[in-house]
Amino acid sequence: MRVEDIEESQSFFTTTVALVTSAYGEQVNVMSAEWSLRVSIDPFLMAVFVGYQRGTYEIIKNSGMFGLSYCSDQQGHLAHIAGNYSIRDHDKFGMADFRTFKAKHISAPLIEGCISNFECRVVDEFKVGDHAAFIGEVLAGYYDKEKKPLIFHQGHFSSIGKRLFRS
Ligand SMILES: Cc1cc2nc3c(=O)[nH]c(=O)nc-3n(C[C@H](O)[C@H](O)[C@H](O)COP(=O)(O)O)c2cc1C
Repeated sequence: MRVEDIEESQSFFTTTVALVTSAYGEQVNVMSAEWSLRVSIDPFLMAVFVGYQRGTYEIIKNSGMFGLSYCSDQQGHLAHIAGNYSIRDHDKFGMADFRTFKAKHISAPLIEGCISNFECRVVDEFKVGDHAAFIGEVLAGYYDKEKKPLIFHQGHFSSIGKRLFRS
């Protein structure tokens, strides 16, 4: 049954969740972002949309770099912590088992156990309503075929369903 409700309709997207890592000086941060995706094939560009009030915004703005680590379906707890607490008043890395590995081209670490990771250098930033769009040139990419993506839908985390047909 179709319901008309512009507020509620905003929960009816289905997205992945990226752990956005950033570092500048002594600060190292991780935040969750469902609004992150590839926006160009050649050059390989990724976009992430970050609220201006996020601690992450300032760190990416200052460093000009960010990491994207796409959660596996085993990492809902990490996505919850990274997405519900701010660096402004919490040590998120101390709150959960965020295992990291060193990136090759960016100062921020990447998160272990993810389905994919990308090292990005900011090549553009613009305002989109109440969020900043950071466009990142991908300098390195990693994947793990054994992992399955974490899905975010109606405010809940779940795993991907079964494949329907062979395309
Ligand atoms: C599943 C999930 C997805 C989120 N997606 C985004 C997003 O795409 N962009 C954004 O600015 N905030 C997003 N948030 C909110 C931030 O992750 C949250 O405000 C976080 O506390 C910011 O941390 P920081 O202040 O340390 O940067 C999301 C939160 C959750 C739980």
